[in-house]
Amino acid sequence: MPGSPWDPEQYGRFAAEREQPFWDLAGLLERHAGATLVDMGCGDGRLTAQLHERIGAGSALGIDSSHEMLARADPPANGEVSFVVGDISAWHGSGFDIVFSNAALQWVGDHKEVLRRWRESLAPGGQLAVQVPANWDHASHLVLTEVASQILGADAPPDPVATNVLKPEDYSTLLHALGFKRQHVRMQVYTHLLADTEALVEWMKGTSLNRVKRLLPPDEYESFVGAYRERILGVLGYQRPFFYPFKRILFWGSLV
Ligand SMILES: C[S@@+](CC[C@H](N)C(=O)[O-])C[C@H]1O[C@@H](n2cnc3c(N)ncnc32)[C@H](O)[C@@H]1O
Repeated sequence: MPGSPWDPEQYGRFAAEREQPFWDLAGLLERHAGATLVDMGCGDGRLTAQLHERIGAGSALGIDSSHEMLARADPPANGEVSFVVGDISAWHGSGFDIVFSNAALQWVGDHKEVLRRWRESLAPGGQLAVQVPANWDHASHLVLTEVASQILGADAPPDPVATNVLKPEDYSTLLHALGFKRQHVRMQVYTHLLADTEALVEWMKGTSLNRVKRLLPPDEYESFVGAYRERILGVLGYQRPFFYPFKRILFWGSLV
């Protein structure tokens, strides 16, 4: 999939803040020594390789649709970690002990069907662990949707988090329906103290603004970011520092 708007540099600007939910999610995993692991929407693969190492997995496969992200992947020489370009909404495999996905599932629709496919990719006794953002109702996201519809009209892309992400209790029900015997589902608020309100724009440029970036030529995208900046400063005011509460849903299921 060429032309992905994901920019590893921009995404990495808030690496520490974005990493904490990854490791909280990893903390839900059990029985991982020697496990075969697939990381859906693995980004640049840095965390995939660290996860493989930290949990003592037997092998790890990272899948991402972004050539730009995967171009950064630097798998260890032992051949236990590999990466492929692919679409996590269509992907299915078999015999994996762990299907893991941090901050990627929100980009695709029909979670019931996608999670059914991911569950089918598990070996007997396997585990599924997924984290999705749930911050669609914060001004950062509502203003983006508003400015997009003002500037792009009918072409404005909907907020995938608002459109695709289910309620925690719906993931819980789905895990049960898919045959997971044990589960843990929670909504967690991550707190971020950003330098100022301007930094919120930089945060959004790393992720949510990508849905506009992919539609516009560079100069028009820069004007869009300018309009978004002006509106968000109007709504939130200039705050230094800026306190940013960010809701996320973490869910884990075990087939045994
Ligand atoms: C927010 S990043 C998360 C990266 C990594 N999981 C992490 O925790 O750092 C989301 C990733 O999902 C990928 N992605 C979005 N839609 C995808 C799709 N349909 N198939 C595969 N990857 C996708 C993007 O390319 C991006 O690398």
